[in-house]
This record gives sequence, structure tokens and C-alpha cells, in this order.
Amino acid sequence: MRLDLTGRAFVVCGASRGLGRATAEELVGHGARVLLVARRPEEAAAALGDAAIALPADLTAPDAARDVAQAVRESFGARLDGVLVNGAGPPSGRALEYSDAQWAGAFELLLGAPIRLLRELTPMLAGGGSVVFVTSSSVRQPIDGLDTSNVLRPAVAALAKVLARELGPAIRVNSLAPGRFDTDRVRELDSERAERGEGDVEAVRRRAAAGIPLARYGDPREYARVAAFLLSDAASYVTGTALLVDGGAVTAIP
Ligand SMILES: NC(=O)c1ccc[n+]([C@@H]2O[C@H](COP(=O)([O-])OP(=O)(O)OC[C@H]3O[C@@H](n4cnc5c(N)ncnc54)[C@H](OP(=O)(O)O)[C@@H]3O)[C@@H](O)[C@H]2O)c1
Repeated sequence: MRLDLTGRAFVVCGASRGLGRATAEELVGHGARVLLVARRPEEAAAALGDAAIALPADLTAPDAARDVAQAVRESFGARLDGVLVNGAGPPSGRALEYSDAQWAGAFELLLGAPIRLLRELTPMLAGGGSVVFVTSSSVRQPIDGLDTSNVLRPAVAALAKVLARELGPAIRVNSLAPGRFDTDRVRELDSERAERGEGDVEAVRRRAAAGIPLARYGDPREYARVAAFLLSDAASYVTGTALLVDGGAVTAIP
């Protein structure tokens, strides 16, 4: 199967590092043009050449969604084919120990900002397009000590399901749940575990990998290939799905 994305235009959020950057690289590799949104996307965009445009923006800022829409109009003439909804992960912690402000901040990050973004961008996808939400394996199985994610990521998967019903048939909407990929975010979480006394970082990592049937952390490019598939016409009959890319880590059935 070849994904020919020549002439297609995408917005990739959280595109300066990790899963977002790998997805932007994958899309450009298939011929697409990509608007890379992050607080500091310049270096990632420059590495991708003319097909990539950097938009420095803090997606949690009130005007960010309008700025992204304006950049799409200026860069692509309002023709948009897909959006990867992605950004920082929420802080680790336990449900009853977060402050109200931390809960509100996690809601803003995972639901408020994406909803504002899609209000602005979905009209530009009305000719046919695809939205992919980056979630987490916590949509299927809680992760110890990551309770805002455990509670709110399933809500993001529900949002994707609801939007698939409300925006179809023109727009497909899916969520794509990573397990453990080798990115800054996962390295930070592993360091926090080590600091909490769970052994050194290598021991934390070895134990985590041992719980994964494929016995290793994923390479962000392995996530990006699935994201690019969902964003492309190759996935033309796939919508409302919450797909795991986790090396088999989640044990729930199905
Ligand atoms: N990696 C995994 O295995 C894994 C597993 C489960 C869930 N996830 C979730 O998947 C998402 C991506 O993960 P990742 O590992 O790629 O994370 P990452 O390495 O921390 O990268 C996050 C990206 O989001 C951008 N970003 C952060 N805050 C932003 C803001 N306020 N406005 C705009 N952009 C912002 C960052 O760029 P700037 O700093 O330049 O803004 C960066 O490009 C996260 O939500 C994470 O929690 C990841």
C-alpha cells in the first residue's frame, strides 16, 4: 500500500518533538505539506524543508485556535485534509491529591484546547478530511500515578466517537492511543519514577519493557506510520475508532 499525499495539507500539533514530529515527518515523506504547531516548531520545520511551515503557538492560549486557522488560510488557501490533535501530556499524580487548578488545567489541555481548535478547523475539512486525536493507552487501562490522564483521556476518546457521528460523512474522526514510545515525555515519566525510588531509570525502563509483549518501547516512527494511515484516504472507511499502538501492552479484551 502506498500513501500518496501529494498536494494534501495537514496541521500537526505538538510537532516539534516526539510523536507529533514523527507524524509530520511521515506525512511530508508521503508528499504532503504540513503546518507544524508547537511552542518551538522552527527546528523541526526547517529539517523538513519547503513542505513544512512552522507556526509557533501555545495551544492552551485563548487565541491559539484562531491563529492556527489563520495560518492554514495563509499557507494552504483554506484547503485542509487532516489534523493531528496532539500536545503535552498532563502532570502525573493521584486523583484526590491534584488541586482543583490542576484538574482544570488538565481539562483545558486535553479537551478545552482541542475543542477550540476543531471549532476553527473543521469548516476547512468540510470537503473531506480526517482528524486523529493522540490519546494514551489509559483510554483502555489506567496507568499507575497518571490519574488526570486516566480520567480525561477516555473522555477524549468519547469526544472522537461523538465527532465521528456528528461530522461524518465528510470528516472521519479517530483516536490513536500510544503505549510507551521513546520520547521526551516518557523519559521524563521514567525519571520521575526513578526519583520516587523505583530504581534507576534503566531499571524502570527495563521493567516497563518487560510488561510489553513486543518487549521494547516503540519508536515514534512506528506510531507515525499508523497516524499517517488514519489521516490518509487509505483509511477511508475507518471512523469513530480508538486504536491502540502499544506493542500489545494493554491486556483488556478486546
Ligand atoms: N510517548 C508515549 O509513549 C505516550 C504514551 C501515552 C500518551 N502519550 C501522549 O501523547 C502526546 C504526545 O506525546 P510525546 O511523547 O510526543 O510528548 P512530548 O515528547 O512531550 O512532545 C509534546 C509535543 O507537544 C508540544 N507542546 C507541549 N505543550 C504545548 C503547548 N502548550 N502548545 C503547543 N504545543 C505544545 C511540544 O513542543 P513545544 O515544547 O515546542 O511546545 C512537543 O512538540 C502527549 O499528550 C502524551 O501525554 C504519549
